[in-house]
Amino acid sequence: MKRILSGMQPTGNLHLGNYLGALKNWVSLQHQYESFFCMVDLHALTAHPNPAELRRNVIEGTAWYLAAGVDPSKSTLFIQSAVPAHTELMWILSCSTPLGWLNRMTQFKEKAGTKQEGANLGLYAYPVLMAADILLYKATHVPVGEDQKQHLELTREIAQSFNHRYKKDLFVVPEPLIFGSGTRVMGLKDGTKKMSKSDAAEGSRLNLLDDADTIMKKIRKATTDTAPFPGTIEETENRPEVRNLINIYSSLQGASPQEICHRFGGKNFSEFKQELAAVCVEVLSPIRERFLNLMKSPDHVEKILAEGAERANNLANSTLEEAKKAVGIG
Ligand code: AMP
Ligand code: TRP
Repeated sequence: MKRILSGMQPTGNLHLGNYLGALKNWVSLQHQYESFFCMVDLHALTAHPNPAELRRNVIEGTAWYLAAGVDPSKSTLFIQSAVPAHTELMWILSCSTPLGWLNRMTQFKEKAGTKQEGANLGLYAYPVLMAADILLYKATHVPVGEDQKQHLELTREIAQSFNHRYKKDLFVVPEPLIFGSGTRVMGLKDGTKKMSKSDAAEGSRLNLLDDADTIMKKIRKATTDTAPFPGTIEETENRPEVRNLINIYSSLQGASPQEICHRFGGKNFSEFKQELAAVCVEVLSPIRERFLNLMKSPDHVEKILAEGAERANNLANSTLEEAKKAVGIG
């Protein structure tokens, strides 16, 4: 049986980019793979979130996944810190990870910026914890965005070198399932910038919590240009905002970008925007409704996480035992 594990930072304020780039993929993958989905609160600690907010974001994040269609009878949803084996295996893996490998990680360099001396050890070791997340479950595949490709490559190297050093086929070397560039949602104001929760311009993103009126307003005000709607997708090459809106329509509604151009080509943008807003509302409103309902009984969400943690602990502990035996501490 093929198995996936993926992790999501509980950072709150989910938006359309998170839905199309992560949630939607998880929902469809759970039908093909045995699935483990982890709220990575230990990773989040590297940025020192407000403690009460972190707790809330773990529950809300889980509720968004459930609302989007992750089915707890098919998939295991759990909190990373509820499975102590993650931190324990991380230490064992740390002892087999050369600093040179970590020094190559571009995410650390980006996040630490020019102040590497002041960056915390957790941020530096972040990819080793991620390797532990994956290897504990012997995941065959790991769905991630392009930005996590390097971390996955490191996970593969850690698994291979551990297996080699201890002469055991203990860890499964996982394959990446990289989401295509079509799932990269850009901002509604600037088509060259990723839609992001940290963008100061509220109008640049569609939050999953936005109501129908807000969605319609944001789409109406989304940046386009003065040229008419393109008749072919090739004509959007230097029109990133237009290209982005077409991609969003396509991802939500299913028609190909080319079909959309054929349909709206030469027409007024307002007609397209009206339809785009309608599609956004049609897809996002039921998810929002389910989320709001779930958050009326957070106990139910906590119960799903507790059941998930039990399943995750069973599997993770058995791999951890093997690893401990292999290195001579079990
Ligand atoms: P973040 O919100 O940056 O922590 O990302 C959480 C998940 O959502 C990751 O899997 C990202 O790849 C995905 N994601 C975030 N922003 C976007 C975006 N604008 N387009 C596509 N995927 C995104
Ligand atoms: N590092 C990932 C991110 O920032 C989150 C993550 C943690 C993850 N552990 C993982 C992703 C294991 C896939 C598998 O998006």
